[in-house]
Amino acid sequence: MFKQKILLKLQFCTGIFLAVSLSIILLFPPPALSQKAVVLNMLMTAPDAQPWQQGIIKDFEAKNPGIRINLIEGPNATNLLEDLYTSAFILGDSPYDLVNMDVIWSSKFASAGWLLDLSDKLTKEELAAFSSKDIEAGRYEAKLFRIPIRSDLGVLYYRKDLLNQAGFQPPETFADLLKISKSLKEQGKIKWGYLWQGRQYEGLAAMFVEVLQGFGGFWVNPDTLEVGLDKPETLKAIAFLKDTIQEGISPSGTTTYMEEDTRRIFQNGQAAFLRSWPYVWPLANAEDSAIKDQIGIKLMVATSGNNGGTCLGGWGLGIAKSSQHPQEAWKAIRYFTSEEVQRQFILQAGFVPSRRSLFTDPEIISKYPHYSQLLKISDSAVLRPPIAQYAQVSDILQRYLSAALTNSMTPASAMQAAANETRRLLRTGK
Ligand code: GLC
Repeated sequence: MFKQKILLKLQFCTGIFLAVSLSIILLFPPPALSQKAVVLNMLMTAPDAQPWQQGIIKDFEAKNPGIRINLIEGPNATNLLEDLYTSAFILGDSPYDLVNMDVIWSSKFASAGWLLDLSDKLTKEELAAFSSKDIEAGRYEAKLFRIPIRSDLGVLYYRKDLLNQAGFQPPETFADLLKISKSLKEQGKIKWGYLWQGRQYEGLAAMFVEVLQGFGGFWVNPDTLEVGLDKPETLKAIAFLKDTIQEGISPSGTTTYMEEDTRRIFQNGQAAFLRSWPYVWPLANAEDSAIKDQIGIKLMVATSGNNGGTCLGGWGLGIAKSSQHPQEAWKAIRYFTSEEVQRQFILQAGFVPSRRSLFTDPEIISKYPHYSQLLKISDSAVLRPPIAQYAQVSDILQRYLSAALTNSMTPASAMQAAANETRRLLRTGK
């Protein structure tokens, strides 16, 4: 009897509790029910995704509870990522709102009409805070389509410890690089001299423009559309790269390597020199790295009389024209490209800032003292030709350069064919 009474009372209380809760929910719905969060989709290479996920996306979502960023990890090679964006836009039903663009894509994406015009979004003063080359790379026909989130510069890494022990200064010329590498190898100090990216992909073109510049050559002049691939300088640049493999200074697997393959070998302490991007620095100096505190960076070497070159890389954000959420997408771009968030992003990932003030920011310099040198290196930036047909022009170079490096064509016939094909393409515009 007593038990029954208690049970009745409990049921009554539970009923009241449920009724009260239900009316509270109906009267004051929680944000999740009253308003579904807007989801912004964005695709990027897997190595880039990590620093985004670890910090700035979480912070953005915490400050903007109505917006979620859905980051999709794509392949490591930038040209494969570009293919994914391109096919999504061509098919017409692109799921992407934010477009995370390599420095070489903007003209193509903008000329195809896939991006929103962002020209009126930032004032002249706001734009002036970014490196001008990074901003220029986002313009097409005087309109702005991409706001830089980070820049990039190809650099030459060297092992300070090995060079000091053997009494060498860092190399200035291609000949120095070969000589030091050979000597260190002969003394049994190191397995490999020089590591570079030789696979047939966009990274091959980025690496090649630096060597080409060092030999005084050029690829395509963006103003006149003149093509320099069949000039003697280009053949000298290829001869240097082939020599590194033939002389055992670079591994025979080089023609299959992308950035991450070369970084792993360098970070394991197996090579004296590496051509790569600044993202390598924090990883090579991490606690678990075999070369922690042993590396220096410098501008790529050149032949005497020529200036070394650094390939301008980098990434920036645009908004897909097909996005249903352009306002939220702009809110995200504003946040990610702000000075404060860029500082946090750069500190975490060691990327090259696209805001000039961050190169000399005290907090950044104390963590990354090499940034003052990076700023100097940035003066020698070489652009891959900023033209709307860049993807096709690069594909031609990648195919024929790879054929020359893997001995399936002679360098001279490969470059003659590459030059002819590029000229034909640029003439017809197709
Ligand atoms: C880096 C650069 C990018 C370049 C790519 C090549 O991601 O930032 O501009 O195209 O490497 O692999």
